[in-house]
Amino acid sequence: MTEAEAKKKIQKLSEELHTHNYRYYVLDDPEISDQKYDQLMRELESLEKEFPYLKSPTSPTQRVGGAPLDKFKKYTHHLPMLSLNNAFSEEELEDFDARIKRFLRTTGDIEYVVEYKMDGLAVELVYEKGKLSVGATRGDGIEGEDVTQNIKTVHSVPLELLRKFPKRLEVRGEIFMNAKDFKKLNEERQKAEEPLFANPRNAAAGSIRQLDPKITASRHLDLFCYGVGEIEGEKFETHWETLHVLKKYGFKINPTSQRCQGIKEVSTFFQKVLTTREKLPYEIDGVVVKVNDIPLQKRLGEIAKSPRWAIAYKFPALQETTVIKDILVQVGRTGALTPVAILEPVHVGGVEVSRATLHNQDEIDRKDVRIGDTVFIQRAGDVIPEVVKVVTSKRTGKEKKFKMPIHCPVCGSQAVQDPDEAVARCVGLACPAKLKESLIHFVSRSAMDIEGLGRQWIETMVDQKMIHHFSDIYKLTKEKVLALERQGEKSAQNLIGAINASKKKPFEKFIYALGIRHVGENTAKLLAEHFQTLEKLMKATQEELEQIHEIGSIMAESIYDFFQDSKNVEEIKRLLAQGLSFIKTQKKSGIFSGKTFVLTGTLPTYSRDEAKKMIEDHGGKVSSSVSHKTDYVLAGTDPGSKLTQANELKVSIISEDDFKKMIKAS
Ligand code: IVH
Repeated sequence: MTEAEAKKKIQKLSEELHTHNYRYYVLDDPEISDQKYDQLMRELESLEKEFPYLKSPTSPTQRVGGAPLDKFKKYTHHLPMLSLNNAFSEEELEDFDARIKRFLRTTGDIEYVVEYKMDGLAVELVYEKGKLSVGATRGDGIEGEDVTQNIKTVHSVPLELLRKFPKRLEVRGEIFMNAKDFKKLNEERQKAEEPLFANPRNAAAGSIRQLDPKITASRHLDLFCYGVGEIEGEKFETHWETLHVLKKYGFKINPTSQRCQGIKEVSTFFQKVLTTREKLPYEIDGVVVKVNDIPLQKRLGEIAKSPRWAIAYKFPALQETTVIKDILVQVGRTGALTPVAILEPVHVGGVEVSRATLHNQDEIDRKDVRIGDTVFIQRAGDVIPEVVKVVTSKRTGKEKKFKMPIHCPVCGSQAVQDPDEAVARCVGLACPAKLKESLIHFVSRSAMDIEGLGRQWIETMVDQKMIHHFSDIYKLTKEKVLALERQGEKSAQNLIGAINASKKKPFEKFIYALGIRHVGENTAKLLAEHFQTLEKLMKATQEELEQIHEIGSIMAESIYDFFQDSKNVEEIKRLLAQGLSFIKTQKKSGIFSGKTFVLTGTLPTYSRDEAKKMIEDHGGKVSSSVSHKTDYVLAGTDPGSKLTQANELKVSIISEDDFKKMIKAS
């Protein structure tokens, strides 16, 4: 066979095999027998062997999985992969609908699309010129892992798109494992005396993150697509249209998705799913509700990391009863003492639970929880399991009351409770528990993201007095790690590699990693955007901090105090001396960049929230009171005293019309 002939034949066989694969795995409607399929595949394999340079990375033969990897490369998503806010009751669902209507200043029914919330893991698939180029995990939403090799082994993932396709397409969906395959996998693992997977989601996640793609290929994973990321050369008007076009490209879309007119129809859909979910061949943990109209989605935008236009309506929390064997006290990063119930292990919705939080002494008293009690415990979504109530009819009289200690159970220092706080905190400066938790926070994924440096490592290293400060992590060497544990060369090497790789991080991640009280990921981002450099942040006064919209006085005080503490300053210096550097956080730029607005009165068409979003989207800030720092007062009808103040301070007063013109002119 000549090269030209081989090329033609390979192309024909590939096309046929892609189509048959699609018919079998996506449509569940094969046209040829398995034998015939295997025969075509063998034919293609032998041609590719003979002409290896004609083999395409998206050939149907690539589904078996190639050579194992050492580690995964990181992949930065072009658009962040957001997460969803949850609703746990009808009331919370109605609140979501009401919020949307208020934001959009409308009273009419909103059209929603409802979909199953698949209990698996989110991935993004990138197609360039119709061919799969990258498959990545969600990771922290900004950066995930490149698991392309493994994604290719999932038969319902098209390696090449079927129809006329956009130049570049990012598709998002959920990888999951069917209940039957999960059961079979665990049975096999039990026979082989391998640890079992707790639930199908863990099995799916574990399988997609295998370094050896042959293992992934053996796991029978599946994928439902539910959205898109960035697209070049195509535009959708509604979410419903997106789903249908994705289907035409060859993706598997969950056929149970529906359109609903208004929130009542959403609720009816949810009630129906509640009764049928048990019979499904896969696990779901709720229903995702999305505004159908894409221009409306854009207007609504997002808050923090979740869209305003979608919500996960979760199934009610699962409850089980079990016995409290003991109550221990855990010491957190901020020194907070939390009572934890140690339970007779019990399965709650497929996950084994052996601990549940009791929150604080007030909660223990209110529920009258005692050691030895039989209790209901509850697990809702990813939340820490909690004790709901005591089954008092099971009391024998031998139960023991519990009292929170007045000293830290780890370092023995005093535990002090602020009058306006529910918890007591350990005041010990050198408390090893606080140190461990702070270090675990410091290295965690949302902070410095040091892969492989988990709780166990940290605990051993602190116990062995190898690390006393964050900066000690950067002084670790391969030799020190090897001396510590019965660890292989390779894992020690990987650990040092991961530590070095974390030396350059986005500024906001570093701020978050410091563990300043009340400073979560969001606030860290605000601080990074506002101050741009560590030097400026460290010098900020309380007043300056409070100027930042969304930072209140408690937070400002806590941030200020943190940087006033000489121990903290010394530690930051030590970190910098270890070569840490930061990637600057981009300031939102736009026509209102550096401008502060105050809103007053009722605007003709925008709600307050929407006006605020438009200002922020164009780089501006909204403040609640008029001062000499205010640049514009955006005034509607019935403006009140803010207008008088604006007049007194000679601040420009603009109408919604002026405002719209300013944006249009930009
Ligand atoms: S939409 C902005 N749709 O839920 C929209 N997510 O908390 C973000 N998930 O990471 C996601 N089924 O892993 C969407 N039909 C569905 C989903 C779904 C499962 C997961 C996904 C995501 C998480 C959001």
